Amino acid sequence: MPAPQESTPVPTQPKRYRVPHLRASKEAGRPITMLTAYDAVTARIFDAAGVDSLLVGDSIGNNMLGYPSTLPVTVDQMVVATRAVAGAAARALVVADLPFGSYEASAAQAHATAVRLMKEGGAGAVKLEGGQHMVEQVRLLSTTGIPVVGHLGLTPQSENVFGGMKVQGRGEAAAQKLLADALALEAAGAVAIVLEMVPGPLATRVTKELAIPTIGIGAGVECDGQVLVWTDMAGMADWAPKFSRAFGQVGAALSAAAGDYVGAVRERTFPGPEHTFDE
Ligand code: KIV
Repeated sequence: MPAPQESTPVPTQPKRYRVPHLRASKEAGRPITMLTAYDAVTARIFDAAGVDSLLVGDSIGNNMLGYPSTLPVTVDQMVVATRAVAGAAARALVVADLPFGSYEASAAQAHATAVRLMKEGGAGAVKLEGGQHMVEQVRLLSTTGIPVVGHLGLTPQSENVFGGMKVQGRGEAAAQKLLADALALEAAGAVAIVLEMVPGPLATRVTKELAIPTIGIGAGVECDGQVLVWTDMAGMADWAPKFSRAFGQVGAALSAAAGDYVGAVRERTFPGPEHTFDE
């Protein structure tokens, strides 16, 4: 009789990607793929394409809702978007952002917001911005059944403190602080950490120090995974950040489709007989 295994290995390409698969992916050296999604239509497409995790980012503010930043986004808006994405994702782990002003004041405040995103939104995990000053929040959530993804480096909710979207962690003192923040989040129970706009060598150092995975955006290729805002990834606009790549020209394709539609309606070539009901 074969000796019983000590523990069942966690697969890295599961039918349903869940929190334990994050660390299993890191340990297997299989890069984690994450994209933002804010609605059911795109969530279904990205999920079917094999994206491991869908981030309902508070970047919904500047990418979908026409706000100048992420700061005006409300918990109610995040709940609606999370519900739509979670309802459409058959495989991907859905992570929802705690928006600005909904978690910083106390662990209890963070808990109340996170519970809404999981209970009403159907999220599988939440993400919050900040390091050592967020340890109480991360500890309470992690010990009450709420997996937490941390977010360090350029944390957009603090853009007014940073004075814009600038690379963070340059210089040894700043690098040491970021590393200490990452270790504190891990010790408090975080399941992964997003590193945004951090020098590549620093992201590599953090990735090697942590047992939990790092997911980079503008943090080089050595992170355990990558995340992009889907509109940047798909080429929806003329401009994208330096760290992004347009893997398609979906904006141009959509514009051409809308232009063709306008032309066909004006020329009365649409609707045709095949689109028209008989008496
Ligand atoms: O809200 C968001 O899209 C994010 C990513 C930039 C990681 O937090």
